[in-house]
Amino acid sequence: MTDTTTKRLKTFSGVKPSGGLHLGNYLGAIKRWVDDQDVYENVFCIVDLHAITVPQDPVALRQQTREVAAFYIAAGLNPARTIVFVQSHVSAHAELGWVLNCITPMGWLERMTQFKDKAAREGDNRERISTGLFDYPVLMASDILLYDANLVPVGDDQKQHVELTRDIAERVNRLYGDILVVPKPLIAETGARIMGLADPFKKMSKSDNLPGQAIGIFDKPEDIRKAIMRATTDSERTIVFDTNRPGLYNLLTIYQVLSGETREQIETRFEGKGYGDLKRTLADAVLDTLSPIQARCNSLLNSSDLDDLLRDGADRARVIADRTFNRVCTAMGLR
Ligand code: TYM
Repeated sequence: MTDTTTKRLKTFSGVKPSGGLHLGNYLGAIKRWVDDQDVYENVFCIVDLHAITVPQDPVALRQQTREVAAFYIAAGLNPARTIVFVQSHVSAHAELGWVLNCITPMGWLERMTQFKDKAAREGDNRERISTGLFDYPVLMASDILLYDANLVPVGDDQKQHVELTRDIAERVNRLYGDILVVPKPLIAETGARIMGLADPFKKMSKSDNLPGQAIGIFDKPEDIRKAIMRATTDSERTIVFDTNRPGLYNLLTIYQVLSGETREQIETRFEGKGYGDLKRTLADAVLDTLSPIQARCNSLLNSSDLDDLLRDGADRARVIADRTFNRVCTAMGLR
């Protein structure tokens, strides 16, 4: 479907409020949403229905949902021009999710590498994985399609899910007429796959228990500094962008996204210097970015303004989502 209601392209994206935000979420997704905020018309969601695909403590889930929302705003999303809301506050997500389930072949979901990886990690417990975890990409398709999003700014690991969303939208359009906008993933050239600091062969992730692997957005400055100073590198001397040296490459990539400098500028800056210099400069850059965001987050978390903003965001999101859901229902002979 071609959308003619606005001149600006529309974006939709979200983060799961489980396990705590990490630097990869910020650099691969949230920072880019903030940087491009004025280019697009944006809707950003805290996807709590996705978090419950694995068991969650209810009190912790509510707290983490508020933390992610506070982080979005503290990092620079402006709720006056960008819709920020919590997924479970808008019922059309689950409703369209069901409808899309009925047109999505199981085989498409069985091919999702993220599910295959998670299922493999469960080993003998595989039988106990929730149906929701298997079905999760259909809910994600519902999230995106409800807002007629043209672009979905995400990290590299979500690309396959956005491609599935395209397939689902195209199938609906083929079966019921041209009623859904077919979105594209928007993936940064730099920073779309931030790797772990301890094991740079694995992506930085919330579920990794390896000490020092992920930098938590709310970690204490001394812990952040320690994790960076201990990051795995190699025994070579030069500081250059070289994909064959994954530990160093990752540290330089993080620095590149934070500083906005070019690779040449960064290589010149560290010419003749050692890993200690690089790590100290990087730790300063991470803390210079995160500390003011953490301070703004704390004041938002202690104020009821946050809940008012989320209520208002859900009201605005609901208008758009209900309109799309009605369009789908009408086309399918429901309602
Ligand atoms: P989630 O919560 O795992 O991650 C949120 C965002 O952070 C990005 N990301 C990373 N980017 C760079 N390096 C990393 N190491 C790294 N780890 C995570 C992810 O790519 C993502 O952009 N299914 C989604 C949430 C979701 C969603 C949506 C996203 C639900 N509905 C609709 C977009 C549109 C997820 O689990 O992301």
